[in-house]
Amino acid sequence: MFVWTAARLDSSRMNILITGGAGFIGSNFVHYVLKRRQQDKIVNVDMLTYAGNLENLEDVRSHPNYVFEKADICDRDAIERILEKHNAEAIINFAAESHVDRSILGAAEFIRTNVSGTQVLLELANQRKMKRFLQVSTDEVYGSLGDTGLFTEETPLHPNSPYSASKAGADMLALAYHHTFSLPVVITRCSNNYGPYQFPEKLIPLLIANALNDKPLPVYGDGKNVRDWLHVEDHCAAIDSVFHDGKIGEIYNVGGSNEWMNIDIVKLVLELLNKPESLITFVQDRLGHDRRYAIDSSKIRRELNWKPGYTFEHGIRETVQWYIKNRTWWENIITGEYQEYYKRMYEGREKIAG
Ligand code: NAD
Ligand code: DAU
Repeated sequence: MFVWTAARLDSSRMNILITGGAGFIGSNFVHYVLKRRQQDKIVNVDMLTYAGNLENLEDVRSHPNYVFEKADICDRDAIERILEKHNAEAIINFAAESHVDRSILGAAEFIRTNVSGTQVLLELANQRKMKRFLQVSTDEVYGSLGDTGLFTEETPLHPNSPYSASKAGADMLALAYHHTFSLPVVITRCSNNYGPYQFPEKLIPLLIANALNDKPLPVYGDGKNVRDWLHVEDHCAAIDSVFHDGKIGEIYNVGGSNEWMNIDIVKLVLELLNKPESLITFVQDRLGHDRRYAIDSSKIRRELNWKPGYTFEHGIRETVQWYIKNRTWWENIITGEYQEYYKRMYEGREKIAG
């Protein structure tokens, strides 16, 4: 059997199929690659769920190195046809159901896309003897930390939500395809992202949108849960670097060493928007809410020379400005199906004293 050993992808021009490219990180990645790697062709496969939005990619719609194909990653025949049509040589799998709260409301779609969909892609990548398969994973597969310590690549998997359990399942499958078939798999596990085009169900854009509309900012539990925030462009740079130079079969943690308690993020956003703290509303906690995430990213820094380009101070200001300038983008979202989701998630959620 052919065994993949080379670390560096040696190819002057590559056809890369990315999935979930109409979502938050995927669309930022499309912009990132088209700006920097003129030789690569990007085929973006997205089924356009509630989280997929082609407006994110309006400016590159006619780019000669970019093409969009609407398809479900669970639909084996459709994906096979697309791979064939574009002679795809590698896959970067962003497509997922990505919101923890929605996975608590119903987990079936998370298992379908995140586990079964990933398996379909792995199977086809193996069948076509692809040059790379990058699985975009998350630090949430490691579970929750106490007050101290960091997740390393050796931390045992301990996913706590249906979302993170489905992502851990996908990681295990990807590693199994590497071990069993020598498929050249690499995995990235990143901490919380923020930046442009993030769907306003996630904490930072939700805070900005609510504050701009003078609506209450819902803080789960005591607001002291900790997340490690990284600008999405730094995540894209890490994925690009692992895709090209990462060691096959390896996992790379990605994070900005930038831990914040949720309540401090809330206060910062209010300060940047010059809005009063009286908008803060403590609400009933998320079920099974992980207390703290914090990433040790020394491996990718040491081996691939990656480091974040953004300071949080700069990134969060720029992000707030982006949501102010692109108000129509998020207003179009929050006036649609989102209203139903918001009601279901937040109305009737018991308020608690701060
Ligand atoms: P997102 O929800 O914004 O986008 C997901 C995209 O996948 C959407 O465009 C959606 O239409 C598409 N999609 C969903 N199901 C599909 C299917 N069956 N077939 C084809 N397309 C489908 O998610 P995101 O925040 O951009 O996250 C992207 C990836 O990065 C996910 O795998 C997520 O687990 C991972 N991740 C996210 C973060 C974060 O902070 N957002 C951090 C680490 C890792
Ligand atoms: O760590 C990486 C993960 O980060 C990704 O794998 C997920 O796809 C992504 O959604 C994100 O998960 P979180 O659950 O950490 O992100 P979220 O923005 O939903 O919440 C961030 C924190 O803020 C979390 O502690 C819950 C809290 N929160 C969230 C919302 C939406 C609130 O207090 N109020 C809210 O209304």
